[in-house]
Amino acid sequence: MLVDKSTPVRHLASTDSTNSECIRLANAGHAAPFWVMADQQTRGRGRLHRNWSSKSGNLYASGLYSFETSPEKLAQLGFAAALAVIDAVSAYMPVDVLQLKWPNDVLAEGSKLAGVLLESFPQDDGSYLLVVGIGINITHAPQLPDRKTACVGQFQNPTSRQLTPVKLLPDLIACFEKWVLNWQQKGFGELRNAWMAKAYGFGEKIMTSNKIEGRFEDMSETGGLLLRQSSGQVIEISAGEVYFATGGG
Ligand code: BTN
Repeated sequence: MLVDKSTPVRHLASTDSTNSECIRLANAGHAAPFWVMADQQTRGRGRLHRNWSSKSGNLYASGLYSFETSPEKLAQLGFAAALAVIDAVSAYMPVDVLQLKWPNDVLAEGSKLAGVLLESFPQDDGSYLLVVGIGINITHAPQLPDRKTACVGQFQNPTSRQLTPVKLLPDLIACFEKWVLNWQQKGFGELRNAWMAKAYGFGEKIMTSNKIEGRFEDMSETGGLLLRQSSGQVIEISAGEVYFATGGG
């Protein structure tokens, strides 16, 4: 069974990327599930081949899990990871400033607080290995040319003890595994509803990375982004990046 409070964690001082380290460990015969965290990454990877700035102080962690389902369904676990970030960090900052931007970004007051990088690999027995990589800005918000960023520390009570990645990770794993169990037992419905309850930019105008425009109408039953175009037609976006006309997110 998946939910196991003792899912092992390897804590490294530094690595290139915790996602890459998970893949190396799996290839070397280490069985899922396990997590790898690093104090810093030298080649942190983001979605769409971007870099993920990875100086010490923020959380960089990846979990390796094995599932017998399709890669399309596994993509839904990106929403589980993003919700788990909200569940875990809301013990340290006001939950009402936290929102989710499709597909997997966590925002605080509209600025990026955390990101999720999912990678899946087919196995000879028909199962898939899933690497769920999570980066959370805890002590600093990296400056990016194209995005506003935030960190948990900005919202913490200055007199409370500083949150650390080591303190946050067990809660994050527990929250993620709670959502995975819910997804395995009940399907995507509750996860989808929880995600929509925190959705950023509902009803707003969106441009996709493929230059498709429309208003954010809903999330589909499978996790796609439903956009209502000016013609009235609703189309489903299943991959890529979205940009809000307001410039937020
Ligand atoms: C994004 O582009 O928003 C996803 C960022 C994911 C970053 C995390 S940090 C831990 C793990 N290791 C990586 O190299 N990337 C992910």
